[in-house]
Parts: sequence; structure tokens; C-alpha cells
Amino acid sequence: MKAWPKEAVKKLKAAHSLFVLTGAGVSAASGIATFRDAGGLWENVKPEDVATPEAFARDPERVWRWYDARRRRVLQAQPNAAHRVLAWLETQAPRFCLATQNVDGLHQAAGSRGVLELHGNLWLVRCTQGCGEWEDRHELADFPYRCPHCKALARPGVVWFGEALDAGVFEKAEQEAMRADAALVIGTSSLVYPAAGLIDRLLERDALVVEINPEKTPFSGIVTVSLREKAEDALEALKKAWSFAP
Ligand code: OAD
Repeated sequence: MKAWPKEAVKKLKAAHSLFVLTGAGVSAASGIATFRDAGGLWENVKPEDVATPEAFARDPERVWRWYDARRRRVLQAQPNAAHRVLAWLETQAPRFCLATQNVDGLHQAAGSRGVLELHGNLWLVRCTQGCGEWEDRHELADFPYRCPHCKALARPGVVWFGEALDAGVFEKAEQEAMRADAALVIGTSSLVYPAAGLIDRLLERDALVVEINPEKTPFSGIVTVSLREKAEDALEALKKAWSFAP
């Protein structure tokens, strides 16, 4: 990639509180398809058929098979340089928050701690009758998956379209965005709210916002710096530039 703008690296390095928002693009180099790119997940299936409460009520087996296929793909995947550099960045900043829209757990696999998972996690399963939520990494055998306690339907522990985000998780992300003096917005089309609203919060308070995305987004023209680069390249370059910045 072209060199990082020196002033941006300097400000990122000087930040008291650094906020990072990631989307599917950070996992692209790990072989996980994004949603809206050519060949993305939403090209083959409509979100309203697999990622809404109505879809689950209509056909839980179809929904579970779709999530099971995604779980299997993620099991084959490894974190890439983008995940690794973000885990390193956490050790550099005095205060750091990573909020992700991804449900693949690859940030944690790379060593990031305290990740705010805005849209849940592929390995979480929740009883629809209220027995609770638990982690289940087993290969699922019977569809639809049922709660081992009460045998009611269990659902994936992710946020679907039309559902509210976990209020505690989102509030924490919003608070961190509102106190950050610098931010990276990486690999997201920034089309899905309320997650994309975090970028508005950052811009409202004049934080330095660097977007990293090979494609333009609705925020490209209003962030401080928009790098038209792949996450894995730009973040590796950032790590190198970091040691030379004052
Ligand atoms: P999208 O698929 O909407 O956007 C992925 C973005 O990643 C695009 O803007 C690509 O240009 C960019 N991209 C592709 N390869 C990249 C790379 N190597 N490095 C950096 N960027 C790259 O995915 P999200 O923005 O994450 O929600 O989507 C947001 C939400 O919409 C998802 O969490 C999911 C989806 O529907 C739910 O399922 C609720």
C-alpha cells in the first residue's frame, strides 16, 4: 500500500482513547465471505429468509442449516494479519475498545480481549423458552437444534434484522466511541445501523477517524482519512509506520 499519512499515525499513536469498529472485510483474508461484496453471503440468500425472527419462526431448520454452514467455514479459518495487528494495537493504546459486527470470533482467536460483539457470536446458542444462553462449539447433528434442558427450540445467539442489539454491549460501545480521540473503521460497508451510528458519534466529537476499505462507503467523504486499502495490508503498514512515528 501507499504510505500512511504521517499526521494520522502520529495522532493515532498519541490518542488517549482509541476506538476500532470492524466489519466482515477484516475476515475476508481469512476466507470468510463478506455480505454485500460480489460473491458475498447476501448474493445467494436473502437476509429475510435466514436472518430474521420471522424466518426462524417459518423455517427454523433452514435457518439452522445456514448458520451451521457458516460455523463450519469459520472452524476452518485462522485469524489474518488484520486481526493480529488489532490485537497488538490493544497493547499500545492507553485506552482501547474494539467493537465488531462480526460473529466469527476471529478477533478473540488473534488475542484481542474485551471485544464488544455487537451482533452476537456464531458459537452462542439461546433457548427460545428462556433457559438461557450457552456456548456450543460441537458439530450440530439434528436440525433444528433444541435446548438440551427443556427440548424447546434453540436459536443462534446472533442479532437478526429487526432485533435490538444487546443494550449493555451497545451502550458500552457508544460510551467508548464518545470518549475516543481517534478511531479506525475497518472493513465495513457502514450501512447497517445502529452499528454505523457509532461512526456518527465519533465524527460529532471531532475524533480522528480513519476508514480502511478497498471500496467507498457512505462515510468515505466525511471521515478524516479514507484509505482505499485492504485491512490486512493497511494494518500491517500501520504497525510498521507506528515505530517510526514521533
Ligand atoms: P458488508 O458485507 O456489508 O461489508 C463488507 C465491507 O468490507 C465492504 O465495504 C467491502 O468493501 C469491505 N472489504 C472487502 N474485503 C476487504 C478487505 N480485505 N479489507 C477491508 N475491507 C474489505 O459487511 P458488514 O459491513 O460487516 O449483520 O455488514 C454489517 C452487517 O450486515 C453484518 O454484521 C451482518 C450483515 O447483514 C447481520 O447479520 C445482522
